[in-house]
Amino acid sequence: MHFDDSSCARCRADFPALGRTHAGRPLAYFDGPGGTQVPQAVIDAVTSYYATSNANTHGQFVTAEESDLMLLAAREAVASFLGAPSWQCISFGANMTTLTFALARAFGRRLGPGDEVVITELDHEANRGPWLTLAARGVTVRQVALRSDGTLDPDDMARQVTGKTRLLAIGYASNALGTVNDLALARRLTRAVGATLVVDAVHAAPHFSLDVTALDCDMLLCSAYKFYGPHVGVLYVRPGLLDTLATERLSTQEPEAPYRIETGTLNHAAIAGVNAAIAYLASWGQGDTLRSRLVDAMSGLEARERTLATRYFDDVRQVPGVTVWGPDFSAPRRAPTVSISIAGVHPTEAARRLGERGVCVWDGHFYAARAIEVLGQAETGGVIRAGMAMYVSEDDIDRLLDGVRALARG
Ligand SMILES: Cc1ncc(COP(=O)(O)O)c(C=O)c1O
Repeated sequence: MHFDDSSCARCRADFPALGRTHAGRPLAYFDGPGGTQVPQAVIDAVTSYYATSNANTHGQFVTAEESDLMLLAAREAVASFLGAPSWQCISFGANMTTLTFALARAFGRRLGPGDEVVITELDHEANRGPWLTLAARGVTVRQVALRSDGTLDPDDMARQVTGKTRLLAIGYASNALGTVNDLALARRLTRAVGATLVVDAVHAAPHFSLDVTALDCDMLLCSAYKFYGPHVGVLYVRPGLLDTLATERLSTQEPEAPYRIETGTLNHAAIAGVNAAIAYLASWGQGDTLRSRLVDAMSGLEARERTLATRYFDDVRQVPGVTVWGPDFSAPRRAPTVSISIAGVHPTEAARRLGERGVCVWDGHFYAARAIEVLGQAETGGVIRAGMAMYVSEDDIDRLLDGVRALARG
């Protein structure tokens, strides 16, 4: 699928929030890494669930049956989105962070002194903090070093993964710097020592076609509110693995995957929205199956967002006083998220002044606090992040660049 300016213009009509103005100007949303806007189809799916099918699961009446079917359909759609073999691999939760804490507790119950877990300096705290709690059980938590160019050190990864490693938790793409990590290396190293590979794909899911089968990961997490859906966390677990984990559950809860890690009643209406978000993405692609339409659509979006981000990256680095953080776009895969600093302007002040122009960017560390610290930007308020999404237009990029130039001029 080729996604160009005219596709962008068509997609913008699907997002009611893009009709909003602030101080007389339309809002330019570069805050996708913090959460994307939702198309009308997602809003309709949430509303329609409440209007017609709202019930708890496993009842003997029509709305409960419809709720069961809706949840099954959503799991099947997510399985297609992730390239997973079946809906039984897909669990839902409040968000990625909550699911990762639950996994860390479950995993940690069988670990103790002598065992090691590896995390990275680049990751969002959601893929660090839960695993760091295992230190209280005597587990050694090692960290793969982040280099000043915004990439993880592959030699250090090879050093940190040892015969004692039980699990490596690593991001697919950095929400702060756009770096795409070498997951093939992570798999090779963990496979060699029999360790579990957990991938945080929250930042990758809106930008790339994901394929858990090709990645060969044991677990992968993402969050639907980053890919045009509602606030729902998604967990993929390799067939058979979840059933071996000592998750926290009520005695009355189904013990098998995918329910084994789901506690209490899920957010049904939001999950109906997740299914609609995936259907919306697929509607931009071509193919005979949902999976093939998704792969086609996501590859078109990846190319489009890469073009926009490369343009912003190349132009903004020419602005006197601007420093661009993270890798350039020479790697075959790079998330379309660009972070900068402007000499003499505090990131919060920069974001506030861009916000006054209706240009929505984030400032700070975006919970990738260790990465921002390693880059030496923690004490000066972090960095200024702009993320691409399917509805970002060339005109939005012009407005962002104009705003940055004005700030750099002082
Ligand atoms: C890369 C990454 N991982 C994890 C998270 C946490 O996701 P959630 O808000 O679903 O807990 C985020 C959220 O910003 C993120 O960007």
